[in-house]
Amino acid sequence: LSDSVCLPATPSDADTALALGYDRLYTGQRSEAARAFHRAAVYAPGLAEAWAAAGEALALISRAADAAAGFDRAVRLDGGVWGWRLGLAEALLDAGLPGALETFAALVEERGDSAPALRGHARALDHDGQTGAALDRAREAAVLAPRNAETALALADLLIRTGDGLAAVESLQPWLHGGAADDDTRFRVAAARAWTALGEPAKARALLDSVLARDPEDPDARDLLARLADDPGAAMTPAYVRALFDRYAERFDRDLVGKLGYVAPALLRDGVDRARGHAGGGLRVIDLGCGSGLAGVTFRPLADHLAGVDLSSRMVDKARERGLYDALQVGDAAAALEPGAGWDLAVAADVLVYIGALEPLFAALAASLVPGGLFAATTERLSGDAGEPFRLGPSRRYAHAPDYVTGTARAAGFEPCLIEACSPRREGGAPVAGTLHVYRKR
Ligand SMILES: C[S@@+](CC[C@H](N)C(=O)[O-])C[C@H]1O[C@@H](n2cnc3c(N)ncnc32)[C@H](O)[C@@H]1O
Repeated sequence: LSDSVCLPATPSDADTALALGYDRLYTGQRSEAARAFHRAAVYAPGLAEAWAAAGEALALISRAADAAAGFDRAVRLDGGVWGWRLGLAEALLDAGLPGALETFAALVEERGDSAPALRGHARALDHDGQTGAALDRAREAAVLAPRNAETALALADLLIRTGDGLAAVESLQPWLHGGAADDDTRFRVAAARAWTALGEPAKARALLDSVLARDPEDPDARDLLARLADDPGAAMTPAYVRALFDRYAERFDRDLVGKLGYVAPALLRDGVDRARGHAGGGLRVIDLGCGSGLAGVTFRPLADHLAGVDLSSRMVDKARERGLYDALQVGDAAAALEPGAGWDLAVAADVLVYIGALEPLFAALAASLVPGGLFAATTERLSGDAGEPFRLGPSRRYAHAPDYVTGTARAAGFEPCLIEACSPRREGGAPVAGTLHVYRKR
């Protein structure tokens, strides 16, 4: 006969109740286990182990508040057991009770190398609305426990919500290609979320389809697919652009100027000098999508005041290192163009390729430039006579029909000064077909 058969159904002392509890726990009878542990604790209220075991069993049957009470009694009786304190913090958090954040913070303070404590702290910080701090903790937990699925999923979720969908996709790669995603569809759904946030619905759909092929009822995949159906979402999102350039910032200058033969700033400067008929200084200049400041170098000699704005904070950091700009801000180009700001010149070197429809930008330019002020930009050229204004290409850059750009500029109150074919850079060794635009505000 096995032990479990010999154990009495209603034990009469703490030791027997504890033994019964463990037996029930290991045979998967969690509610029975919780009852037996609780009985043990009632027989011997000073027995910390009984309270902790009750907490553990109660946590397993999602009775988080009762679990917290059990762990709390155990910790009060014997505060030296790490696992009980961790159990208390987790139960407090699950139950939405006060004290979870502080308890996790103390655990992390004590043992900064505990992945479960870091993971829990990340969850508690996130619950408290401290998403950035939560992301830091989740990163640390993922480094310490790279094979922990919950940590990987929590990290990906935080990365998506803090606008770094690309990093989320990257962090999920080992799981997607290591076979884990076959057993645990949450990885594919998480990657689909990341691609959705990045404005790549086709990639998201492919992943969700593969989840539904295995389980047509998967609620998360169905839910996300339904939302994608409502929003074809082909446009590139600011989150994608920001993440792309945040990651690219370190090697941007080397790659662009070196490998890609990037000359957009020089083309713009030449166009502006020709439109003005001279190269005199004293202008108030704003560099839209300033990136690491390459156009700033070119336009500084014309500027009395030089401002820059970019979606990517890391690119702005690079621009700041140059010490060229009088003012720099992280944000959207159109939003940064305050009405009445009185700019004499706005430049956008290789930036409109990340913005599809240009009407909002031209409206903001019209309100922000002085009469007679100039706007100079490079675009990639969309050819063909289908009347299509712009198109997002496979390289995730927009090409614009020159007529569309000029028509939009005119409608907003600008006159064209220069519209010329040019090549701002190379791609795959071949020059990219582009257009140099310089407009004057009426
Ligand atoms: C190819 S880089 C060019 C950077 C810089 N103009 C140069 O010539 O080196 C494009 C830059 O535009 C920024 N960008 C794209 N869309 C933007 C927007 N809507 N508002 C502000 N910056 C934007 C990107 O973050 C990136 O730094």
